[in-house]
Amino acid sequence: MPLVTSKEMFAKAYDGGYAVGAFNVNNMEIVQGITEAAGELKSPVILQVSKGARAYANHTYLVKLVEAAVELNPEIPIALHLDHGDTFELCKSCIDGGFTSVMIDASSKSFEDNIALTRQVVEYAHDHGVVVEAELGTLAGVEDEVSVEAGKESYTHPDEVEEFVTRTGCDSLAIAIGTSHGAYKFTPAQCTRNADGVLVPPPLRFDVLKECIKRLPGFPIVLHGSSSVPQEFVKMVNTYGGHMPDAIGIPEDQLREAAKLAVCKINIDSDIRLAMTGNIRKYFAEHPDHFDPRQYLKPARQAVKDMVAHKILYVLGSDGKA
Ligand code: G3H
Ligand code: 13P
Ligand code: ZN
Repeated sequence: MPLVTSKEMFAKAYDGGYAVGAFNVNNMEIVQGITEAAGELKSPVILQVSKGARAYANHTYLVKLVEAAVELNPEIPIALHLDHGDTFELCKSCIDGGFTSVMIDASSKSFEDNIALTRQVVEYAHDHGVVVEAELGTLAGVEDEVSVEAGKESYTHPDEVEEFVTRTGCDSLAIAIGTSHGAYKFTPAQCTRNADGVLVPPPLRFDVLKECIKRLPGFPIVLHGSSSVPQEFVKMVNTYGGHMPDAIGIPEDQLREAAKLAVCKINIDSDIRLAMTGNIRKYFAEHPDHFDPRQYLKPARQAVKDMVAHKILYVLGSDGKA
């Protein structure tokens, strides 16, 4: 099947009590790892491209890589999404350039300015058969040039979501309930430690999520900043010359709970970065004489595939839902 929007994916995910994984793509190995896992597990999947990814790899290269993945995986629905679009022009360029879904992230603006910009993008997108994700509330962490310190994020106000969705006409809404971008989602001071000294993060604000769901029945919710920062990868990075002390993510069981509710899209990028970096560091340490990029990119791609398969099976619950 050709590239699809996320409309039908989300309707099925909402009713089925699962979520669709939205994985960030920056190069061929990442596209391959993700779509090979989704294809084998018959799972719908969203491939998302940030402004930074476009600057790194070029719009056309990324679209062509995704088109190749679509051709090679005809049995699964694949959507191509702009992650964190920050201007109308960027969203328009992706809509005109073959994306089936865009995010306009005006969450750092005032409520009224967020509505105005989101509405403008929605009108253009819907005229072109493209769906729009918007955001209310701000997450902690780093995305592109914007950095919000842990503790300085602001949760979504459930009182605002209904008016926002009605006035903008957006197709899905990202909310802030305690997830955060990057590999350092919480400071050690925000966490407790278990008996083994491992950091335990504060729980997600399921009360905020449930209040939002009450006000938006049947409407798809999105969670950004949802990497789990698997400690096996952090350990691998640190064992083979890296330095990522106190890297910490969102526990997978909490994401699974959210996926059973109205959360239909779960964004994962940092876990891909960790899987690749851990495995490449290990490869370099174990094979200091190798210098063919295919040698170390192969296990890195396999690690992405295995990680995504794990998410589909044990976090998202989207296996067999293609
Ligand atoms: O939310 C941000 C994503 O992880 C994309 O990151 O802007 O560094 O490509 P990036
Ligand atoms: P992570 O940094 O938790 O992977 O979040 C990615 C994301 O939200 C992309 O928009
Ligand atoms: Zn994000």
